[in-house]
Amino acid sequence: MRAHHIDHPADLDVVRESYDRVADNYVHMVETTGFGDIRRHPWLKASIDAFADSVGDSGPVLDVGCGPGTVTAYLAERGLDVSGVDLSPRMIENARRLHPQCRFGVASATDVRLEEASLGGVLGWWSLFNLPRDVLPRVLARFARALKPGGHFITATHVGDEDVARTEAYGGVPVRWTTHQWRPEQLVDLVEQAGLRPVAELRLPADEQTGPGVVVMARRPEVPSPRA
Ligand SMILES: C[S@@+](CC[C@H](N)C(=O)[O-])C[C@H]1O[C@@H](n2cnc3c(N)ncnc32)[C@H](O)[C@@H]1O
Repeated sequence: MRAHHIDHPADLDVVRESYDRVADNYVHMVETTGFGDIRRHPWLKASIDAFADSVGDSGPVLDVGCGPGTVTAYLAERGLDVSGVDLSPRMIENARRLHPQCRFGVASATDVRLEEASLGGVLGWWSLFNLPRDVLPRVLARFARALKPGGHFITATHVGDEDVARTEAYGGVPVRWTTHQWRPEQLVDLVEQAGLRPVAELRLPADEQTGPGVVVMARRPEVPSPRA
C-alpha cells in the first residue's frame, strides 16, 4: 500500500457519473445565472482574492474539484501558476473548452498525485462535501502534506448536520450523491487536526440559490503543529 493511500470511497463511481450528467447544465447555470461565479458574489470573490494575495508567487496552486474551471481561470488571470483537477471527465471537457489557456486533469481528491511540500496553495472550493465523513480528514491531511511550509488552503462547503441524499441537482438533472454538511467549528477542527492553522472563516447565510455555507482558509505552519 502506498504511503498515505486512501481507499476508493464506495460511492465514487456513482458520484462521478452524476457529475458527468450535470456538467453541461452546471455550465449553463454558471453562464446564465452567475451560479458558482465568484465575480457575481462579492464575499466569495473577496475570499478567493485573499487566498490569491496570500499565495502570491510562493508556488504552484491546485484547484481540486475545479468543475468547469471558473475559479481556476480567475486565479490564472490573477497571475497564479494554477491547474485544476476534477473527478468528472465531462466537467474537465467543459473546463478545457472554456479555458484553453489553463491546465486541467481528471482525478479524485482521494487519489490525485500530490508531492510532499510542492504546492503554494490548494483549493477544495465547494468540492469536498461528497467525501464520506471518515475520508475528508484523510484528504485534508494529504493536502496539508502537499503544501510547502507557509502554503495556503481554502475550502468552501455546505453548513449543517445532515447527510443529504440528493436525487436531482442543477436544474432537475437526476443524480445520486450525498451532500455531507459540516458545522463550521467541526470543519475548522478537522483542518487543524490535519496539521493546518486556520487563518480565516467566513459564514454565509442561506440565500435564494443555496443553503448556508462556510469558507475556511488555513495555512501550513512553518514548523509542524503539535496536533498534526
Ligand atoms: C459544486 S461543483 C464545484 C465546482 C467548482 N469548484 C466551482 O466552484 O465551480 C463540485 C465539483 O466537485 C467535483 N468532485 C466531487 N467529488 C470529487 C472528488 N472526490 N474529487 C475531485 N472532484 C470531486 C465534482 O465533479 C464537481 O465538479
